[in-house]
Amino acid sequence: MKFFVDTAEIDAIAELNDLGMVDGVTTNPSLILKSGRDILEVTKEICDLVDGPVSAEVVATEAEDMIAEGRKLAKIAPNIAVKVPLTWAGLKTCKTLSDEGQMVNVTLCFSTNQAILAAKAGATFISPFIGRLDDINLDGMDLIADIRQVYDNYGFETEILAASIRTVNHVTDSARIGADVITAPPAVIKKLADHPLTDKGLETFLADWAKTGQKIL
Ligand code: E4P
Repeated sequence: MKFFVDTAEIDAIAELNDLGMVDGVTTNPSLILKSGRDILEVTKEICDLVDGPVSAEVVATEAEDMIAEGRKLAKIAPNIAVKVPLTWAGLKTCKTLSDEGQMVNVTLCFSTNQAILAAKAGATFISPFIGRLDDINLDGMDLIADIRQVYDNYGFETEILAASIRTVNHVTDSARIGADVITAPPAVIKKLADHPLTDKGLETFLADWAKTGQKIL
């Protein structure tokens, strides 16, 4: 399973990247706003730091403008994945750019039918949003499972990028179902290491070690 980091914060990406935990990065207009950075500058820095795909999102709503924006974003670096919303204009952009050999991430996916359309338009990644479905009392994980089944039924090669991940359980469940990639905020990725029995066990070991009076170094 690949880990993408869902942020435009360079320091947070670098910290996880140094540990080998970063297979790619996803950004969106809200994350760019949060970073306070210029989209072209910060995306270039992220692409220089990380070897894997870095998603940068278009903001136009008409296909012609989306395609132009996508081509401009693609020029930032070879590892750019142009991110487009799951609208007809976005699908048209996906088809055009993927035919040109460009990686495309189709985002804001909330149904299996939308995921089928993205795969047929040649998407490299489809991003179903788990947390936002959970927010409206639907089960985001059901969508991941349905897309997995349908893609496997027909051999679609589009990778399922489980997005809008808010909890460590979203990561576990995505892994169980067989999502190809998860994208999560740095805090969620760091939380994967936490377990109260690890903390408790370490406390006991350190207390006993102190009683031995020994030193390793
Ligand atoms: C994915 O690419 C999106 O940037 C992200 O996962 C959205 O997450 P949110 O619903 O927590 O904003």
